[in-house]
Amino acid sequence: MARFWRRWLKGRAGGRIQTPAPAAALHSSNAGQQAAVVDHVEEAVLLVQGSAVRWLNPAARLMFPALEHPVGRTLVEVVRDHRMDSLAVRAHEAGLEQAAEIELPSSGRRLQVRALPLNDGGIAVLVQDVTRLRHLETVRQQFVANLSHEIRTPLAGLDLAAQTLSEQLPAEGDARTFIDRVIQESQRLQAILLNLTQLAALDADGMEVERAPFGVAALVADLGGRYQSRAAAAGLELRTEPVEDGLQALGDRGKTDQALQNVVDNALKFTRSGEVVVSTSSDDSRVEISVRDTGSGIPPRELPRIFERFYKVDLARGGQPGSGLGLSIARHLVELQGGTIVAESSPGAGTVVRVRLPRVPLTSR
Ligand SMILES: Nc1ncnc2c1ncn2[C@@H]1O[C@H](COP(=O)(O)OP(=O)(O)OP(=O)(O)O)[C@@H](O)[C@H]1O
Ligand SMILES: [Mg+2]
Repeated sequence: MARFWRRWLKGRAGGRIQTPAPAAALHSSNAGQQAAVVDHVEEAVLLVQGSAVRWLNPAARLMFPALEHPVGRTLVEVVRDHRMDSLAVRAHEAGLEQAAEIELPSSGRRLQVRALPLNDGGIAVLVQDVTRLRHLETVRQQFVANLSHEIRTPLAGLDLAAQTLSEQLPAEGDARTFIDRVIQESQRLQAILLNLTQLAALDADGMEVERAPFGVAALVADLGGRYQSRAAAAGLELRTEPVEDGLQALGDRGKTDQALQNVVDNALKFTRSGEVVVSTSSDDSRVEISVRDTGSGIPPRELPRIFERFYKVDLARGGQPGSGLGLSIARHLVELQGGTIVAESSPGAGTVVRVRLPRVPLTSR
């Protein structure tokens, strides 16, 4: 629905949104129809001129019922929250959209608020109640955290029993085949568990992130070294290209390494033949570490979704093992450091994943 009213308010010019004033809107039949639809959207919409509310839709009247006749009163009188008012003021002063999530102390409701400057000098304030959404997110996070905690002990027990049994079984025969399978599957489960535990830790607030300079060349060399034997066993070439002398990123070396491991793991997993190349580049403010493969590639319509939790391309056809968590963890780890991660791909030709991090400023080196 947010998209609808955005179209209604559409026609940005220089960061501002051109919109018919509600009064004018009602005089044009097309705009009149649009205004009628805005009357029915669930999102609260308030139009503010100066500091006074000049129009609001029924959802806004329902969400902010304090005044019987809100039109003409100040925004803060209507919404009873100074943070929303400040957001509208900031949008007006900056001429740019401002957004914030606000928790109302009185009711505990969480509101997603956006303030958009309009071309007539007014401000559109859009408010969505996200209380239920946030509650569901918390429930999901707690569920994942509890589940991973609960299955850790039985899984470790299972693995230990299988390893002990394996030592006592002959090197050949059916029993060997089955016990090897048990060990392999339990290790797969443990890898999934590790990912889930990590996601739970990332979801919990307050994860410590280091922000210190670290050498990119050593990081890339370690990464290449770690996967050399696996690449060779799969008949792939894993190359690391030379890194610019003294290049340093600013962030958390351990978390960057972990994120890149997930990316290289994918590159090797989804490449049947050819090579995986780790290369770097930089500009004044950023370092980019990219992992390019000559693998199966990702269809364009799937590409935007690969960083989502549990998302796997072509799930129906089985494909490679994995829980679909590696890239979402990688994104978390990179973004925690103020970096970005993006993927480009052409099916059949391969994929490149680029991790960008802040660079240590030239003057401080
Ligand atoms: N280099 C790549 N080439 C082709 N497809 C890829 C590549 N990297 C990721 N994908 C696709 O994106 C999906 C999500 O990747 P992600 O790393 O999150 O999960 P996974 O590798 O399936 O499982 P996990 O990393 O949890 O073991 C993969 O399942 C795969 O379909
Ligand atoms: Mg993966």
